[in-house]
Amino acid sequence: MAATKGTLCVTGAGGYLGSWVVQLLLSKGYLVHGTVREPTDQKYAHLSKLEKASDNLKLFKADILDYNNIYSAIEGCSGVFHVASPVPSATVPNPEVELMEPAVKGTLNVLKACAQAKVKRVVVVSSGAAVSMNPSWPKGQLMDESCWSNKEYCISTKNWYCLSKTKAESEAFEYGKQSGLDVVTVCPTLILGPILQSTVNASSKVIIKFLKEGYESVENKFRLVVDVRDVAEALLLAYEKPEAEGRYICKAHAVWTKDLVEKLRSIYPKYNYPKNFTEAGEEQDLSSEKLQRLGWRYRSLEETLIDSVESYRKAGILD
Ligand SMILES: NC(=O)c1ccc[n+]([C@@H]2O[C@H](COP(=O)([O-])OP(=O)(O)OC[C@H]3O[C@@H](n4cnc5c(N)ncnc54)[C@H](OP(=O)(O)O)[C@@H]3O)[C@@H](O)[C@H]2O)c1
Repeated sequence: MAATKGTLCVTGAGGYLGSWVVQLLLSKGYLVHGTVREPTDQKYAHLSKLEKASDNLKLFKADILDYNNIYSAIEGCSGVFHVASPVPSATVPNPEVELMEPAVKGTLNVLKACAQAKVKRVVVVSSGAAVSMNPSWPKGQLMDESCWSNKEYCISTKNWYCLSKTKAESEAFEYGKQSGLDVVTVCPTLILGPILQSTVNASSKVIIKFLKEGYESVENKFRLVVDVRDVAEALLLAYEKPEAEGRYICKAHAVWTKDLVEKLRSIYPKYNYPKNFTEAGEEQDLSSEKLQRLGWRYRSLEETLIDSVESYRKAGILD
């Protein structure tokens, strides 16, 4: 490996966001330790093709529930980006095992390994889902980092993904407080933008379905969108800026589903778009002002949508 700025670990390096984080860190001159569950699997082939990967990327086989493997990947790193966490695209039969355990126990494993390896800072990827499920927040008021999803509400509405992210993030801060480990979290909203990996992740499916399925009717939900490349930049800022602390909402655009679809249709008229929209949900927005004060900037929604569609086309997903 060539001389670089230092070594950083990315968990879930082969996933949608993880791949962009790896690419960004390599481009900035870092050595990267990436964890994947099965290094020989073809679904991670894109990682070795990234620029500088042959010299500066080392993959480690690690399930986040396996402490020793996680520690091996983190040892010798000055910083860690904990990205790995299950993101299902449909309801899961056993949320405790499939979601809660990897999200919550997995995060604590990573944090314990960080403390043992004396990592300077760990940036945990949480979610807007850990912010917005709060029925007591005043209606119509922008949600900021002081707003937490209500765990009982997540349980009563069977929103296991939201619960998994809320618990993982709150326990991460608790662990940081007890151990002295420097923990910063980033809470992205719906992530769109081009894919580097060959498989289709859950959030990309949201717009792929709007392009392909020709639904008779879909719900006109209020959506908060952010580009995957801008999320990777936010994570790096949260690591590199000494003054970064606490949580950071990472949201760029607020848009109704109908307007999102119309925007896509105006650029790419030939796809099989939904025909009708039914009214659903209310306008509840999140503020990324704190992250912008740290220096974060985001690209336009048009750029995100165009680059997404072009990447799906290139991957043959829209055929
Ligand atoms: N996409 C969004 O809209 C969105 C929004 C907010 C927050 N997030 C957060 O962003 C992070 C990345 O999500 P993504 O959108 O990039 O989804 P993704 O492509 O499905 O990535 C999830 C990653 O987690 C890994 N993972 C899951 N369970 C694991 C386990 N037990 N051990 C090791 N690795 C495990 C997966 O590894 P394999 O490759 O081995 O399956 C994969 O790399 C997650 O923390 C997610 O909650 C995503």
